[in-house]
Amino acid sequence: MSATPHKTHRELLDSREPGCGFPGEVFSRQDVFENDLDVFFSKLWILAGVTADIPEPGDVSTVEVGRASIMIVRDDDDNIRTYRNVCRHRGSRIMKEAGKASVGMLVCPYHQWTYDLDGSLKHAAHMGRDFDAKCKSLIPVHTKVIGSHIYVCLADEPPEDVTKLDQAMTPRFAPHQMQRTKIAFEAEIIENGNWKLVIENNRECYHCEGTHPELSNSFLPEDFGYCLDGLGEEAVRDYEAYTARNEKSREDWERDGFICELVEAVDESAQTNFRTQRLVIAGSNESQTISTRVASTKLLGDLQRRDLGDVHLWGHNSWTHVMSDHAVVAFILPIAPDKTVVRTKWLVHEDAVEGVDYDVQTLTEVWLATTRQDADLVANTHSGTQDPAYVPGPYSRYTETALDQFCRWYDARLSEHGI
Ligand code: FES
Ligand code: FE
Repeated sequence: MSATPHKTHRELLDSREPGCGFPGEVFSRQDVFENDLDVFFSKLWILAGVTADIPEPGDVSTVEVGRASIMIVRDDDDNIRTYRNVCRHRGSRIMKEAGKASVGMLVCPYHQWTYDLDGSLKHAAHMGRDFDAKCKSLIPVHTKVIGSHIYVCLADEPPEDVTKLDQAMTPRFAPHQMQRTKIAFEAEIIENGNWKLVIENNRECYHCEGTHPELSNSFLPEDFGYCLDGLGEEAVRDYEAYTARNEKSREDWERDGFICELVEAVDESAQTNFRTQRLVIAGSNESQTISTRVASTKLLGDLQRRDLGDVHLWGHNSWTHVMSDHAVVAFILPIAPDKTVVRTKWLVHEDAVEGVDYDVQTLTEVWLATTRQDADLVANTHSGTQDPAYVPGPYSRYTETALDQFCRWYDARLSEHGI
């Protein structure tokens, strides 16, 4: 009996039936994972942090992206700069560990080459008079700050269409003054599944009703497609009520200058994949909490209204919900074919006081529970896709169109890079 011939990554992609998911090997093979890291986490813009990670000059947030490590730094002039975490001498890591630190200068632990926060090499002992320190600045990383979101691109020539993301999000974030926020809480979880399954899971709410009792208090699955076939009259009436409420909220928000319009760049032509829209929230329309009321009575920016719904934003490695009182920003970093780090940050007004304006439990309980539930779904699905019996089934044309789009976008990006 001969062994099954090994399909290339391209052959695996081409074997996908339109409207169905990828074969299991796309989620588990090391060579596919390496291609994914190279294209989706090195050549495209990814979310790598928020401005509140580094509130003061000298703050450094070190983030690992595949084999690469980057240092996101706030310099003495309050500029946010990003460098490769590689010493220009013999390559040592400058920051030894991922996470946050506060420094005066960036000092390599090996031979103490010392870099200014602007990246220039200020001190290198025993290198002689003819040594030209100017050529040995830290290697900069392309960085784009949009609201509180710090996007980076490790490529030499980053995709230019990040300007569309900037144009869409800058005015949407503006009333919430995202840079005047602080991190009230953050959590990291390693999900036992491929990063694409994490993103697929995030792009549908088909699973919400059965899995997310906490989130379902505030989140309306109708926002992402709905099929009334086979449902009774009551469901039809509910859907009509949802539509009417949605229209009324949108009119109301637009009149007050809060942009609601859907913008998406998710098709094959988009390098920078994103979707944004101001969504209604069930109940009070205020916040993604159990009660649907604000978790922080000190609203973001100078906002006066609590019922501003949810400015949601997807990227190909992130999701964000911005409400009147707080924001939830999450991003993912793959660490193995079957392991993905998910970092979630809860942002509140920089002057909000814990125990006075908000309490952490009310603020975090919905998305902490939801993230744990999603981690289970992803691990369970990853495992199932590796079973010899797995055959990719059809996506719902109503509730999972974004997943088929994601597959086509994923395929197109790989094709563009010769895969
Ligand atoms: Fe950094 Fe030598 S490797 S100072
Ligand atoms: Fe979910």
